[in-house]
Amino acid sequence: MKATAIAGSNIALIKYWGNRDEALRLPMNNSISITLDNAYTTTTVEFDARLKAEEVVINGQPMSGAEKNRVTRFLDALRVRLGFADYARVQSENNFPMASGIASSASAFAALAKATVGARGLDLTPAQISGLARLGSGSAARSVLGGFVEWQTGSGDADSVAVELAPPAHWHICDVIAIVATGEKKVKSTEGHTTAHSSPLYPARLAHVATTLEPLRRSIANRDFATLGDIAELDALSMHAVMMTATPSLLYWTPATTRLLHSIREWRAEGLPAYFTLDAGPNVHILTLPAEVETLRARLKAIPEVERVLVCNPGEGTRLVETHLF
Ligand code: DP6
Repeated sequence: MKATAIAGSNIALIKYWGNRDEALRLPMNNSISITLDNAYTTTTVEFDARLKAEEVVINGQPMSGAEKNRVTRFLDALRVRLGFADYARVQSENNFPMASGIASSASAFAALAKATVGARGLDLTPAQISGLARLGSGSAARSVLGGFVEWQTGSGDADSVAVELAPPAHWHICDVIAIVATGEKKVKSTEGHTTAHSSPLYPARLAHVATTLEPLRRSIANRDFATLGDIAELDALSMHAVMMTATPSLLYWTPATTRLLHSIREWRAEGLPAYFTLDAGPNVHILTLPAEVETLRARLKAIPEVERVLVCNPGEGTRLVETHLF
């Protein structure tokens, strides 16, 4: 009744933004991401028939309120689907600081889904676990798989799951994360998704995404970095344009963000292969190749607004490990 799982975060190249069903987290469009090796969550789950409620500890802190409720609501959904009634002790740790502004819901719910299935002694496929993780956080559906991953909209709950496009060893792309803000963001993704439909640009974004999925898949298969970077950069701008023009308007960028976007374009014009992407926050993910990481790190060091740099490579999918957190 106890199991521990490790799950990496992921960075989307074509983003998930907006749902057709908020409760089931059925997305409006397919999204494609890279699972990351160096930003991960470890979670131990133990079911105990004597417990009267969930006990949730994250990074050593006992949780209550909204954070704990999100875990309990997720486990409620799994209790119904997997057919059990017990509450759990859940302990979770991120290898990156919680306040680093790096998305933790993707790795958190992927690890929790995998550990829950493991603790119940169930034998489910990665696709089935991806579908479960999706109920906790949409992007978590992708973190269940390793390497280059596509989450399909599907026709409904049963087939809105992620599949592997290529394993991590296929291509050593790097995600150099420039952290410019470490505080909690004002509007979390879950709330943000509900505003997407109010943007006049949203239909144009969805139509455009439909034309970029196949070229992106091809760029991954052919290891065509310039095409991948162009598609990813445009997609991030398109998502942020939708965010900015929604009601209420979501403006996640800070002056530090804009400064970095300009710098990356200048460096690229000088010949450095580097493209940016951003999630629902001000931090900038720089896609580059292994040979350029140290140059990039040195340039980022010279920018005072950059508080921290985290370098990630394509990583494995969610897996069980023998060592428990408690
Ligand atoms: C901007 O998966 O964080 O990072 O399902 O409400 O947890 P919830 O949303 P979440 O949304 C991710 C938004 C994004 C883009 C992406 O990762 O595709």
